[in-house]
Amino acid sequence: MTNREHFGSRAAVIMAMAGSAIGLGNIWRFPFIVGEYGGAAFILIYILCSFLLSLPILLSESIIGRRTHQNTFGAMNTLAPGTKWKWLGLLTMVSPIIILSYYSVVGGWSFAYLCKAVSLQFRPENAETVTGMFGTFSSSTWGPLACLTVFLGLTALIIFSGVKKGIEKFSKISIPVLFVLIVAIAVYSLTLPGSSEGVRYLVKPDFSKLTADAFSAALGQSFFSLSLGVGTMLIYSSYVNKHENLVASGAGTAFFDMLFAILAGFAVMPAVFAAGIAPTSGPGLVFETLPFIFAKMGSGGIFISSAISIIFFFTILVAALSSSISMMEVGVAYLVEEKGVTRGKATLGIFAITFCLGILCSLSFGVLSDFKLLGNTIFNFCDKLCSNFLMTLGALLFSIFVGWKMDKAAVREELTNGGSIRFNSKIFPVVYFLIKYVAPVTIGVIFISGLLA
Ligand code: TRP
Repeated sequence: MTNREHFGSRAAVIMAMAGSAIGLGNIWRFPFIVGEYGGAAFILIYILCSFLLSLPILLSESIIGRRTHQNTFGAMNTLAPGTKWKWLGLLTMVSPIIILSYYSVVGGWSFAYLCKAVSLQFRPENAETVTGMFGTFSSSTWGPLACLTVFLGLTALIIFSGVKKGIEKFSKISIPVLFVLIVAIAVYSLTLPGSSEGVRYLVKPDFSKLTADAFSAALGQSFFSLSLGVGTMLIYSSYVNKHENLVASGAGTAFFDMLFAILAGFAVMPAVFAAGIAPTSGPGLVFETLPFIFAKMGSGGIFISSAISIIFFFTILVAALSSSISMMEVGVAYLVEEKGVTRGKATLGIFAITFCLGILCSLSFGVLSDFKLLGNTIFNFCDKLCSNFLMTLGALLFSIFVGWKMDKAAVREELTNGGSIRFNSKIFPVVYFLIKYVAPVTIGVIFISGLLA
């Protein structure tokens, strides 16, 4: 595989991986979960989980990807030919496609809301009707489908452009922009009267809320936020050259992802409390509560209201796109490298499959809302299947593979670049211990207790 593309620099690797990591998970899931499970106390275990459990999984995926420079299926086949491990390669074919399908529905909504913001629909005099707008819009048929098409189309366009001209270029521009925008929103949010209650909600440590539940919530959030367990980090690492320091780029990715989540917390919660609204999670927070707040609180009138809503929905759209491309790349790389199709046809193929499933997810808010799978709408079923089951299973298997199946010398070689990175050689025993014992045991316990619950 001589003509395979590579990311151009350390910055490019971190931007691309951080691009995958930073997304809807940081903006609507993290702020809410933090408040729910004890503020600063939760942030503390979240940081611990991220570095002790998620980072080892991220490194496991990185090791497999960079070792083989192949797509997820090819990588497993090369490292463990003719074994059942090929199923892990196949699992990573299925999971990102399912995630992309429902993620794109939400990506489509953010595009729709950006259009609404640009056409000045979120103004102070409209504030009361803004909340109801979301239910009407998401349960309708054609609007959301059109936006889904736009969002998936943009994703496909970036992926079609290639690893360097598409993924690398988009991430290198979008990640710095996202940081600037989220800081701007946080500054605005913190200046609203009454916002200090929201700050207290985020930072006041409440250790009594640190139940077993909080631990599994921290781990689940950390996995989703770092895009683990489904091969997205594996495929990105397969585009990393042999000189790059995997530990440094992994730690950098985890750091930026966490920083963005915390900034998003300060962008969202102070505004919610300033408006005197109970914090909700998920689509309700982003598409009902916040537009209402932005419309109502724009004390500078229509200009401020509209500007802040445009910035906010633009941020969500770009953050979602930088994540969705990483999901699409897994399948595209597989088709190109294993099935020998052109990048154009592969992109079209994955687009078509996710589009069909995405249509069902989108309609499950409207005409298909009565159709239930195990008691869930199609959208919720896909989300639960992936977040609670497939991602954890994938993460568990990746750590077992690297810790128990791969040759220890090969793992050491990848993490230390053949011994040339001194610092990594020193910490190798610790990292290896985390990958081999701590991660699989902890994740296994949480996975099995989740299945039994
Ligand atoms: N991490 C992204 C977010 O926080 C979502 C994401 C991208 C993802 N790729 C993934 C989630 C793979 C799970 C698996 O929004």
